[in-house]
Amino acid sequence: MKKILFLSVIALAAIACGKKHAARPVPYLDTSAPIEERVEDALSRMTTEEKVAMLHAQSKFSSAGVPRLGIPEVWCTDGPHGIRPEVLWDQWEQAGWTNDSCTAYPALTCLAASWDRELSALYGKYIGEEARYRKKQVLLGPGVNICRTPLNGRNFEYMGEDPFLASEMVVPYIKGVQENGVAACVKHYALNNQEHKRHFTNVTVDDRTLYEIYLPAFKAAVEKGGAWAIMGSYNLYEDQHCCHNKKLLCDILKGEWGFDGVVISDWGGVHDDDEAITNGLDMEYGTGTNGLYGPAENGYDYYHLAKPYLQRIREGKVGTTELDDKVRRILRLIFRTSMRPEGGFGRFTCPEHYEAARKIAAEGTVLLKNDGVLPLADPGKILVVGENAIKKLVVGGGSSSLKTQHEITPLDALREEFGEAVSYERGYVGDVEGSYNNVSTGQDLSDGRSPAELIDAAVAAAAEADLVIFVGGLNKSKHQDRESSDRLELPLPYGQQDVIEALAATGKKLVVINISGSPVAMPWAFRANAIVQGWYGGSESGRALADVLTGRVNPSGKLPFTIPCSLEDGPVKSEKQYPGVLGEDGIWQEEYSEGVFVGYRWYASKDVAPQFPFGYGLSYTTFEISDAKVTRSRVGRLGNFKVKFTVTNTGDRDGAEVVQVYIAPPESPVARPVRELKGFEKVFLKAGESKSVTIHMSYQDLCYFDADAHKWTAAPGEYGILVGNSSEETPISLSIRAVS
Ligand code: BGC
Repeated sequence: MKKILFLSVIALAAIACGKKHAARPVPYLDTSAPIEERVEDALSRMTTEEKVAMLHAQSKFSSAGVPRLGIPEVWCTDGPHGIRPEVLWDQWEQAGWTNDSCTAYPALTCLAASWDRELSALYGKYIGEEARYRKKQVLLGPGVNICRTPLNGRNFEYMGEDPFLASEMVVPYIKGVQENGVAACVKHYALNNQEHKRHFTNVTVDDRTLYEIYLPAFKAAVEKGGAWAIMGSYNLYEDQHCCHNKKLLCDILKGEWGFDGVVISDWGGVHDDDEAITNGLDMEYGTGTNGLYGPAENGYDYYHLAKPYLQRIREGKVGTTELDDKVRRILRLIFRTSMRPEGGFGRFTCPEHYEAARKIAAEGTVLLKNDGVLPLADPGKILVVGENAIKKLVVGGGSSSLKTQHEITPLDALREEFGEAVSYERGYVGDVEGSYNNVSTGQDLSDGRSPAELIDAAVAAAAEADLVIFVGGLNKSKHQDRESSDRLELPLPYGQQDVIEALAATGKKLVVINISGSPVAMPWAFRANAIVQGWYGGSESGRALADVLTGRVNPSGKLPFTIPCSLEDGPVKSEKQYPGVLGEDGIWQEEYSEGVFVGYRWYASKDVAPQFPFGYGLSYTTFEISDAKVTRSRVGRLGNFKVKFTVTNTGDRDGAEVVQVYIAPPESPVARPVRELKGFEKVFLKAGESKSVTIHMSYQDLCYFDADAHKWTAAPGEYGILVGNSSEETPISLSIRAVS
């Protein structure tokens, strides 16, 4: 009896407990419920004031959640090469944390130069882990603006000049970041191809060029990468700022591509209350506390999407349809990130992250010339010359500047490798500053010697050496590779050409390493025994270079942009094209009149030889492409086809080749580039090994954008399918017939 009583007490308790536990949680907190149901439920519980509060910044990098409902704030971070150090709530001053020194990954130009989709996924995954560890929901990156002119100060943050390469490389990065519950915010949408007067430049570009060159990487980011956020750019397009540009945001991004994520303004990129409300912007962030440039008391209240919006709603001037749409998107972002069921995994500056940074930096390194001096076997006495051999380059460049735990310079790494055999001479003095936004490298690079004295010292030291390695290029100071200003010229700055000439004249073997994020003129190329294009390589940059110089890593990077001989040779040379013509309204009018002929599309079509072509890069081994074939002879509108070939490593070192497939269109109703990249594969091969490779293509790859009909189309006829290892080296020529 006692036992029965006892059991029924337990049973009752269980029912009570069960009831308690079985009670459904409020729907928006129920992580097992579909996201859209959670979004609608949360939205239905919010007041108008709470909704508006979510739409704008509350600090430099955060926006409000809904404290009453337990919905957290959204925190953003730059991006795109590592996690930016913490600044104060409402100032650009450093917060002074001692635990925010991240792993600095190589700049995105380097990632693009690796042409390695798997590495891009790894990059994304690891930077996502670092963002998660630092409790950020939005990573402000990656950037995919096309390298239209070598002068753009921010080329280093982007993925080169080709829309196909940028599209292929951005997708795995985004997936990697988001896998961990951190939103990638792809930037800067769109046509933000320069820094000079970036807030006041209005771009005129025809629709065909827009769709073929400037939009594809964003489209891929949305449709294939599933990006959860996009950042509007500073410039104007068709006389409307891109952060609230109806055509770009409402018609194309959210309309044609069905983007369901959040449009975030660039910092201070919003200029108009009404357009901010109606033209597709969802969240407004700012540089000054009034959202624009000047400080104001309780500044964030004065943002376009703050009090002015609330007031318009209260006065009945606008309804709440747009408001609810914006809030839905923000809630969706929160449920995809901080309130997602799976949680996330964060780790910071762990050995795997540094290893990946080194691997990416090495794989992106491009060997441009080599008469056999590389790899360094038994180099004897090495003289290293040049500021970029000793300058730490992670700090600087604008919003992508980072604070990293360590940065190995090229000189550090060469000394790790060759010890006492390495001596150093400065050669030139470029930028002696070592700080950005109060993060300092701690280096004092001042040197009082004149240019002639510096060159004399380098030449004298060269006399004692067996090999000279010059490490120069650009840096991240004003008018170099940096946000908010453009470069002024194509040649190397600070008299470096003179230094290279003087070193070449010594007759010693000369290796030139150019570190930059943009193309530089190389009129001295014929004088060097070897030329290496390095990038801003992040924490492990020096070691990655040493990996390539010693042959521990066989170089396999390929240029993500053309290195021209001069700006005059290139597509963008009139004032109207760049930097534009100043109008009476204070806006610079700029015409992209070169159309789709950007980068190699221009050089190849005009038959102008660049210094080094897009897609080019050497290896320490040799490769052969054979047995190439197209699997079909004709393809119709919905058809697919394959390009198959065998790649053989014909040398005696393991290595990797990037095989590239270009299409060569027949005569068409519009002028088309003579070749366009539509496929590539990076193939790793042991010495002597062969692999067969299949590249999947479709009718779509043959198309151009017919602006009048607003659709992709291909003129019927015979399309060349060119296979090779650079845009200028496509020895295999196949074809397919497009039928309508
Ligand atoms: C840059 C963005 C950056 C933002 C926040 C802006 O000046 O253009 O790329 O994400 O600042 O730092």
